[in-house]
Amino acid sequence: MSVVIVGGCGHVGLPLGLALAKAGVHTTALDLDAAKVQRVMAGEMPFLEPGTSELLAEVLSSASFSATTDPASITEADTIIVVIGTPVDEHLNPEPDAVVHAIDDCLPFMRDGQLMILRSTIFPGVTGKIEKHLDKSGKKLDLSFCPERIAEGFALVELSSLPQVVGARTETAFTRSEALFAQLGAEPVRVTPEEAELAKLFTNSWRYIKFAIANQFYVMATNAGVDYENVRHAITHNYPRAKDLPRAGFAAGPCLLKDTMQLAAFSNNAFHLGHSAMMVNEGLPLFLVEQMEKEHDLSTLTVGILGMAFKGDSDDPRSSLSYKLRRILRFRAQEVLCADPHMFEDPSFVTQEELLEKCDIVVIGAPHTAYKNLEISQPLFDIWKIVGQSQ
Ligand SMILES: NC(=O)c1ccc[n+]([C@@H]2O[C@H](COP(=O)([O-])OP(=O)(O)OC[C@H]3O[C@@H](n4cnc5c(N)ncnc54)[C@H](O)[C@@H]3O)[C@@H](O)[C@H]2O)c1
Repeated sequence: MSVVIVGGCGHVGLPLGLALAKAGVHTTALDLDAAKVQRVMAGEMPFLEPGTSELLAEVLSSASFSATTDPASITEADTIIVVIGTPVDEHLNPEPDAVVHAIDDCLPFMRDGQLMILRSTIFPGVTGKIEKHLDKSGKKLDLSFCPERIAEGFALVELSSLPQVVGARTETAFTRSEALFAQLGAEPVRVTPEEAELAKLFTNSWRYIKFAIANQFYVMATNAGVDYENVRHAITHNYPRAKDLPRAGFAAGPCLLKDTMQLAAFSNNAFHLGHSAMMVNEGLPLFLVEQMEKEHDLSTLTVGILGMAFKGDSDDPRSSLSYKLRRILRFRAQEVLCADPHMFEDPSFVTQEELLEKCDIVVIGAPHTAYKNLEISQPLFDIWKIVGQSQ
């Protein structure tokens, strides 16, 4: 088996490529970003993902994995996996044609008999559109949509432990796709492409709405002077029907909000629960600032945000609500300082030591495990109650 992954140096493509290479599949990561390709070929992961640095070194030395910017690599593979980013546009609308355009660029290098697996999260109907596109081009490929459902930070574990939804229309496309994911040990779940497209968007919107319920309860409890975490403990303790009620916290990152927006657009903006969830989750940074203002005159104070990644133990800033918090605080506080132990490249950040030395108030923006050991003497706003947990 040989695979080329288009978008192969990204957060989804690279862990998948490494896992496939480890399983014995000859894998090439094709990516437009030459700097990332260079880093990967030098054995350096472009982002944090547990276990991948060691795996990258292993599969590079066994020559089962390589990264390239050369689209000619498409021709050599049996299977093409497309996993380019699919962000919303500047008006917050999905761009259903992003994947179609990327495939257009690959078409001259494709050959009859290949299997193409779409793995980017796509707008419903895009698989059907690509089927027609391939037909029109005269190329005879098997096609499936096999959505990625891993959470960043758990890729290598989840790639082999989560079932793989396989959306296809022909027996050959099913069996070839299933055979590939069987290399990782993933149990297949067969559906139509349209069912698979909705399965992915429903999965992420479901999660996003669950976080919104927790955040709405947090706001209600806090306004009433009640500790949400104590209420949550009371609800979930030995009570199986509510055990998945989440903690409160920023629901951010490149997928959950974006995919809820895709569903909203798909339902002609009549996804009322989704829209409400967006308002609740996106409103949390402002609620936090208002809590601070109840106790402090921010206009005379320096506020420090610890943790700028979109979630704990990640170095991924994409759609992080810590940046929204920073924007609000920049308008209301005298000064705002930011630090993150996993993100060194942003020149606007200071070190954690400098932040703790200079700021009057500390707010946690991402619950990094390292904060469990912190002792903070300033007033602290910590939704996750992570600071000092190890004490
Ligand atoms: N990050 C996640 O946890 C996650 C989980 C499940 C699904 N997804 C979905 O997977 C897709 C990819 O997300 P990601 O987080 O890996 O994005 P990413 O931005 O980290 O990676 C995308 C990669 O594709 C490359 N690229 C873009 N256009 C290209 C082209 N035409 N040819 C070759 N390379 C190209 C980029 O340079 C980048 O390296 C999205 O649709 C996303 O919604 C992401």
